[in-house]
Amino acid sequence: MTPKLEEARALLARPSRVAVFSGAGLSAESGISTFRDTETDAYWQRFNPMELATPEGFAANPERVIDWYNWRRRTLATARPNPAHVSLAAQHGLVQITQNVDDLLERAGVPYEQVYHLHGTLSEDRCHAGCGYRETIELAEPPALRACVQCGAPMRPAVVWFGEALPGDVWQKAETLCRNIDCLLVVGTSATVYPAAGLIGIAHQQGTKVIVINPNASDASALADVELIGESGTVLPVLLEGLSLASV
Ligand code: OAD
Repeated sequence: MTPKLEEARALLARPSRVAVFSGAGLSAESGISTFRDTETDAYWQRFNPMELATPEGFAANPERVIDWYNWRRRTLATARPNPAHVSLAAQHGLVQITQNVDDLLERAGVPYEQVYHLHGTLSEDRCHAGCGYRETIELAEPPALRACVQCGAPMRPAVVWFGEALPGDVWQKAETLCRNIDCLLVVGTSATVYPAAGLIGIAHQQGTKVIVINPNASDASALADVELIGESGTVLPVLLEGLSLASV
């Protein structure tokens, strides 16, 4: 075990409240693309986020947006949780704040109510006009563009697009948690998209210890008390082995 891993384990092992803040890197080893890696086939290297992940892009070409999300859904349907998800799920009391819209933490066994999806979920559609109507989606067979049965507006994935607000209740819970923990485990995020990435700074300002896991330096590096350079599927199982962590 490296000195950095030992240092991180020492931070986690003392009686403390811990939470996880994750991004696309957590699911990379499950075969789900990240958004910004330069050396990989990351989504925003291949696709234009303004066309696919904004209300304006949806208004301009709703079929294109729905088709893209449905392609991602079908990919997710065949993906499996990786050792990073599994080792996090084995920590039964740990709340998972995530920017990810996949359901791999839940499929690894994290209770639904312990996953705070800041950017929404691919597993549901919602009415784009905001009438409140939602539907659970079969990831392997997602529906084509269709109208809301309640108000007739187009249905869309229940994810957050650029220019949209995060779900207020989820953000509130995540922010409150980050103000009341002793250690934040930051996993697989470039930490470039706000307000989500701001949670790391909020925790850091409180004197909360920050452990960052990423194969590369990221915008979270400057706030890290311990930075573990590596893939989360390799690092997390070793880091968490034998520990019993909780968020409350
Ligand atoms: P990014 O794609 O911006 O960052 C992914 C990070 O994961 C990078 O820093 C990689 O180095 C790292 N990474 C890659 N493989 C890894 C592995 N095996 N283990 C650990 N880390 C690994 O993804 P996010 O930070 O999640 O928002 O992006 C934030 C938001 O930007 C997303 O939620 C999405 C996107 O636009 C919306 O769609 C609203």
